[in-house]
Amino acid sequence: MNGRIDGIGGGAEVTFVFADKPVAARAGESLAMALWAAGRPVLRHSSRDGAPRGVLCNLGICYECLVLVDGVRIRCCHGNGSLVGAAG
Ligand code: FES
Repeated sequence: MNGRIDGIGGGAEVTFVFADKPVAARAGESLAMALWAAGRPVLRHSSRDGAPRGVLCNLGICYECLVLVDGVRIRCCHGNGSLVGAAG
């Protein structure tokens, strides 16, 4: 069982690596939702108090979902580079 709804979506199955562990995903879904579906809701920890951080708004507004992709900090729920399988 995974966190996806059967019959919705359907991009090619792909795998990417997040925090040194493989994540099964579908091309075209956001990194945030791929991680959520894989049971990986914690994206980082606060530099201030170490509290776990993850998706909050899923709209690209709050910046709680910041992650590093190829050395670039992005919001993994929204915007450039946030889609699985997207180039650059
Ligand atoms: S969850 Fe708010 S910007 Fe991504």
